[in-house]
Amino acid sequence: MGAGKPVEITGKHQLVVRADYSATPNPDFQKTPPLAVKKISQYACQRRTTLNNYNHIFTDAFEILAENSEFKENEDSYVTFMRAASVLKSLPFTIISMKDTEGIPCLGNKVKCIIEEIIEDGESSEVKAVLNDERYQSFKLFTSVFGVGLKTSEKWFRMGFRSLSKIMSDKTLTFTKMQKAGFLYYEDLVSCVTRAEAEAVGVLVKEAVWAFLPDAFITMTGGFRRGKKIGHDVDFLITSPGSAEDEEQVLPKVINLWEKKGLLLYYDLVESTFEKFKLPSRQVDTLDHFQKCFLIFKLHHQRVDSGKSNQQEGKTWKAIRVDLVMCPYENRAFALLGWTGSRQFERDIRRYATHERKMMLDNHALYDKTKRIFLKAESEEEIFAHLGLDYIEPWERNA
Ligand code: CTP
Ligand code: MN
Ligand code: MN
Repeated sequence: MGAGKPVEITGKHQLVVRADYSATPNPDFQKTPPLAVKKISQYACQRRTTLNNYNHIFTDAFEILAENSEFKENEDSYVTFMRAASVLKSLPFTIISMKDTEGIPCLGNKVKCIIEEIIEDGESSEVKAVLNDERYQSFKLFTSVFGVGLKTSEKWFRMGFRSLSKIMSDKTLTFTKMQKAGFLYYEDLVSCVTRAEAEAVGVLVKEAVWAFLPDAFITMTGGFRRGKKIGHDVDFLITSPGSAEDEEQVLPKVINLWEKKGLLLYYDLVESTFEKFKLPSRQVDTLDHFQKCFLIFKLHHQRVDSGKSNQQEGKTWKAIRVDLVMCPYENRAFALLGWTGSRQFERDIRRYATHERKMMLDNHALYDKTKRIFLKAESEEEIFAHLGLDYIEPWERNA
């Protein structure tokens, strides 16, 4: 009306609505408006985030800034940028002007300045500076090796290393077993795992686990459960209603079987430190106590449907990172929720439990601090219900 003519439709003209309001006939139609504008929550667990990201140009920028903050061990800055990226991923429209950002939580002044710069110039000078920063580039390169974290990267950077080839050929450095495997299978491990490869590993995991524990439930978790087409590894959660003693033996037996067949390029079996009555952890990002195995699997191309397409001359297999987690049957819903991710979704659902519900949630349990009881759950739906949250499907957790 202000322009005196029809104008181009932008994000700000689009309401964020719940589809069910308009889809179901409402007997109270006269009393309530037919369309309700839903305020966007500051918590990722109250937003639906599919893989349809309309704001890549912004979220890519914020993820680079977040990663740089992580390399500098600046936690506050990391959280700020990750929350900004996360909320933008949930929007059903592309931000094209600053007006579109009104009413969106998690966008502080610093974040808004960067959005504005990207709208105006198509890029952020800060992101450009980070991408050209020697420390960022080195950390990015070093941490791309399996087994190399911030501490090792810092050490190598300080020693003046800038390339992997120099590090590998240096006679004075010593490497962990994990890092040795990381260098040995580097090319395979940095090239992403496809869904076809993940499914092929899934068949082998089921075959091996069911040989020892026929009633086991085996679920592919992580990014693939959220619908991603590629991943950096394949995650599996294993549980069974049978006895705990049988369960404990399964991962060692599977490892043993695969090792005999020459299918294990690396493995690290971590024994359970789980205690049934321990309160959930206060930390938002802590590791769980289940028995698990981080491994590198030798996947023969012939096991994969579309195996021929990426087959190299001579080499008939690909090294694939696999995580296997074994959890007690009572904890399976919590373990499934925790291992499905995304990392940001997990952080936010724990933060929501703590700050909005006075509850404590982790990969093992949910504890109500007011009632001083553990809240049991047989399914993820029940956990969301305990927290008073609408259920969010796995493919809507790509926060
Ligand atoms: N996770 C966890 N404890 C660990 C490792 C991972 O609870 N020791 C959780 C992470 O928080 C994440 C999920 O398990 O939500 C999967 O972890 P990961 O494989 O690292 O990430 P994905 O989301 O699967 O992403 P990718 O496709 O890159 O593997
Ligand atoms: Mn994963
Ligand atoms: Mn994993």
